[in-house]
Amino acid sequence: MISQEQIQTLEGQQTPFYFYDLTLLDGTLEALNAALKTHPDFRVHYAMKANVNRPILERIHQAGLGADCVSGGEIARALESGFTPAEVVFAGVGKSDAEITFGLEKGIFCFNVESVQELSVIADLAASHNKTATIALRLNPNLDAGTHHYISTGKVENKFGIPVADLDAALETIKASPSLHLAGLHTHIGSQITDLGVFERLCQKYNGIVSWFEDQGVRLEHLNVGGGLGIDYRDPDSHAICDFQTYFDLFGRYLGRREGQLLHFELGRAIVGQCGNLITQVLYTKHGEQKSFAIVDAGMTELIRPALYQAYHHIENLSATEGLRKYDVVGPVCESSDFFGKDVPLPETNRGDLIAVRSAGAYGEVMTSHYNLRQIRPAMYWDGSGIVEE
Ligand code: LLP
Repeated sequence: MISQEQIQTLEGQQTPFYFYDLTLLDGTLEALNAALKTHPDFRVHYAMKANVNRPILERIHQAGLGADCVSGGEIARALESGFTPAEVVFAGVGKSDAEITFGLEKGIFCFNVESVQELSVIADLAASHNKTATIALRLNPNLDAGTHHYISTGKVENKFGIPVADLDAALETIKASPSLHLAGLHTHIGSQITDLGVFERLCQKYNGIVSWFEDQGVRLEHLNVGGGLGIDYRDPDSHAICDFQTYFDLFGRYLGRREGQLLHFELGRAIVGQCGNLITQVLYTKHGEQKSFAIVDAGMTELIRPALYQAYHHIENLSATEGLRKYDVVGPVCESSDFFGKDVPLPETNRGDLIAVRSAGAYGEVMTSHYNLRQIRPAMYWDGSGIVEE
């Protein structure tokens, strides 16, 4: 909820900008940690790709989470924000030699490896730097996450993970490579998963694969089930914080683990999604023959999710309350995909009104672009008593 107190401080600021409620982030992290307390052998590495703003990373680090990175840039940002190398996991289907070397030099905790070829590359680079690389094998479990096809990652047609048929070859490569230490298994089947039954099916698949490794005499120190827990985009105020307890309990119940085996998660959206909002201002309204448009000063360059995934974001007019009309809320970019919502019920909307596009904390600001040479303003943060800039 964007409070009246917050709205007063937002008025008069130059738009567009991202506005983060750090008190909600803190509440989310508290709920996450309370749920983790009931599962002492669970660990969460925050998926940095969702949001890399320093005030956010610092809070996540202070809450005791690790960092899940997908590039050398993210590893560097994690280390600058206080995470130690031992708290950093490096995932990604296309790690460059320079990025792998950077991770080795820094001594990160684990590389999540996505192909047999990558295993050999990491083994060679580690050997040439006199290092041992701790690795987890990312599996492709061929499982439908039931989410948008662009953010589904666990099916055979997806580029991610090692096909089950390649596991023999992967184990052979590892056995022949003294510079590799196989510590765990990894999988991530998709994002914005709201049907928890999907995770139950993941556990069942996972259990079979873990047994196969045990039959080969491999003892795994950790299992990593990735991220994916979805948030409520339709009703962000009723479900501002995810039900982490039910989510963790599900894995505790369905995923078979051996004594001492840790269970790792890589949550992104569920941690930062609801604390961020895109704040934009209405430049023009236009009442066409079929539609009314609210043309705002942010566009797909600031938040691409509706254009790219047909994603729904709840939209609010923070300045008006009277009347009701349906608007297409659109940006200034010359593309018909440049919209935030279609037929959005809003009060009678006027030039100058402040609009909030809600639930934009994850995969919002990180995915901005300079298309049309547009510039976004620095983010603003609500710390409980007022607004602070980064
Ligand atoms: N781990 C791996 C290996 C991943 O690929 C991802 C997300 C995560 C963890 C974190 O997933 P989360 O808990 O946030 O669902 N830009 C898209 C989402 C892309 C997600 C990519 N991978 C969006 O705006 O919906």
